[in-house]
Amino acid sequence: MRKNPIPLGNGVTGTVAKTGIPEIVGDITQDTRYIPHKRDGSSILYAPIKSEICVPIKYKNKIIGVLNAESDHLNHFTHHDLNFLSALADQSGIAIQNALFYERIENFNEELRNKIDTATSKLRNANVELQRLNKIKSDFVSIVSHELRTPMTSIVGYVSLLADEEVGPITPEQKEFLEIVKEESNRLTRLISDLLDISKIESGKMNVELDDVDLTQFLMKYQNKIKDMTKEKQLNFNFEGPANSIIIKGNLDKIDQILTNLVSNAIKFSEQNKNLKLRLHENINHVQLDVIDEGMGILPEQAEKIFDKFHQVDSEFTRSIGGTGLGLAISKHLVESHGGKIWVNSTIGEGSTFSFTLMKADLKADQLVSQVQTQK
Ligand SMILES: Nc1ncnc2c1ncn2[C@@H]1O[C@H](COP(=O)(O)OP(=O)(O)O)[C@@H](O)[C@H]1O
Ligand SMILES: [Mg+2]
Repeated sequence: MRKNPIPLGNGVTGTVAKTGIPEIVGDITQDTRYIPHKRDGSSILYAPIKSEICVPIKYKNKIIGVLNAESDHLNHFTHHDLNFLSALADQSGIAIQNALFYERIENFNEELRNKIDTATSKLRNANVELQRLNKIKSDFVSIVSHELRTPMTSIVGYVSLLADEEVGPITPEQKEFLEIVKEESNRLTRLISDLLDISKIESGKMNVELDDVDLTQFLMKYQNKIKDMTKEKQLNFNFEGPANSIIIKGNLDKIDQILTNLVSNAIKFSEQNKNLKLRLHENINHVQLDVIDEGMGILPEQAEKIFDKFHQVDSEFTRSIGGTGLGLAISKHLVESHGGKIWVNSTIGEGSTFSFTLMKADLKADQLVSQVQTQK
């Protein structure tokens, strides 16, 4: 049919395709509409057809084709055949439509698959490019930080020599200025070291080696550092915690860094003469350290974000008093490298408590039993 289509309205089938009305033709030789079948366009009749029946194939009242049967006998088809063929045509209508829908869905699927493939490959390329740029950025930060650190160390060294009058007497005003230079140089050194840490964390090069260390002993010494730090704002510092030795799995340099970040924040965001407390809890498998301040506090919706790098609640205010927004991100990484957790509880205007946990060193079975008993 596709090779030699019958135009709509021509012949018996063409008429049924146009009108949608079934027809039985008892003697087609008497029907002027009849077009004889030809094979491959040749004019040779290949079957002496005498009668014909034709019904429309419909789907939702639309004619989508015709079903046609022919016979070499006159008056071969009855109304019974018409009913049968009509029922067959109804089923065919649904089947053809389903096949068309299926084909359309298949095409749509294919189209969708192609689009997804293109989008995925674009995304993959973008990702590779992003990784490349990220590496360039990390390398850049790392190289620049390294190159800045060396001259900063000598600036601080020479300024200290001058300020401490190691190379000759200076006036009080000169001393004051040199102290400012020293202060600012130290600030710059801290900033470079934070940048270097973040780039190490991002490139997976921050190795935190853990040993069995005595936390209590460390905290005894560390308290002097806090007292020193709180002098400027005259905060009242106190420590609360057990005095017995507690062995943890830790890296004391990194624990110093975590605490210094938390304590310097506590000081930075507190007014003069407020209280500042360091509290130690001992649990069965871990210890918890709390740095408790009476400073400005943090809104609940900021409580998680402040641990993201470069996040500052009020960046203008924070930058004016110094800070990059890296301290808590670094601390979080360091705490997690210890197998611990870090979080904050805070009330605006009343203060904040930054807490983190550290794992205790593996205990022997008998030590564990006696610990459980003491804790009961
Ligand atoms: N003790 C605190 N009290 C109030 N806000 C704090 C405190 N500690 C941290 N924050 C908030 O979290 C932000 C991120 O802290 P941090 O990562 O240490 O960066 P930085 O100190 O360089 O700003 C701070 O800018 C501040 O908005
Ligand atoms: Mg900070």
